[in-house]
Amino acid sequence: MSPLHKTRTLPEDATDAALRSDVLKGLTHTPKTLPPKWFYDAHGSDLFEQITELPEYYPTRAEREILVARSDEIAAATRARTLVELGSGSSEKTRYLIDALSELHTYVPVDVSESALTQAGQALVAERPELHVHALIADFTAGLTLPGAPGPRLLAFLGGTIGNLLPVERAAFLTSVRTLLSPGDALLLGTDLVKDEQVLVRAYDDAAGVTAAFNKNVLTVVNRELGADFDPAAFDHVALWDAEQEWIEMRLRSRTGQTVKIPALGLAVDFAAGEELRTEVSAKFRKEGVRAELSAAGLELAHWWTDSEGRFALSLSVVR
Ligand code: AVJ
Repeated sequence: MSPLHKTRTLPEDATDAALRSDVLKGLTHTPKTLPPKWFYDAHGSDLFEQITELPEYYPTRAEREILVARSDEIAAATRARTLVELGSGSSEKTRYLIDALSELHTYVPVDVSESALTQAGQALVAERPELHVHALIADFTAGLTLPGAPGPRLLAFLGGTIGNLLPVERAAFLTSVRTLLSPGDALLLGTDLVKDEQVLVRAYDDAAGVTAAFNKNVLTVVNRELGADFDPAAFDHVALWDAEQEWIEMRLRSRTGQTVKIPALGLAVDFAAGEELRTEVSAKFRKEGVRAELSAAGLELAHWWTDSEGRFALSLSVVR
């Protein structure tokens, strides 16, 4: 059996340097922001897995429905020998693709969460002993180098995670993805779609409070990694729909006036009562918008599949 091969493209302290720089920049900015990638330590990844099973959080089920129905078509259209999955997390839905791709030689899961990669990678290596699994611990927004692996390659970016990037970041990301692809390679992109505001807001503000705990987990990460003294109970979880930008925003609203110390940065951050810290945007898409963003990056939308309720889409672009 091929062992699980892991490559860390960033040194361990680069993660730390990136967190410091993001926290310094975001918490001294007006309005305050933190990037969503810092949700995903082992606990945050576990909370996210719980979110995917909530009755209100439909995207995971909707995307799974599309993969179940369309993996054979995706396999026929791509005949991929290498599958690269960005932000692979638990890789649970990817199994449908892996099982459908009869010529698959190498699977490259890429994630910032080493715990998620190791768990998923080990399970896969045990089940598919002939498959080469080369896990990459990497931040795919920072530019990627892929291991040498046979083409055609299928690059999958599922879950609607592209919606967590701001429009300018999305454009840069899609352009850098395009440079990784050669003729005959393909991009499979998952995008959550614009829909009723109530449905969207409930998906990010569930009755059981799991998303609230997930949102506040970023404060726990900053406490542990940078010695900060955030009190998660002193913040309220906020989810709102921005109809202009067509995205959901998650915020943490300070319940009182307070000062938070971040010793590793020599920083004290003042929050006014009611002041909000933006922790995530989750953009929702329309077909023509996706087509236009792909096209601007030199990619041509070739297939568009949605679930039966039209909530979520998978698009496939094949490079010519
Ligand atoms: C990482 C894109 C799958 O934006 O829906 C879930 C993360 N945030 N609930 C999303 C998330 C709050 C999620 N994705």
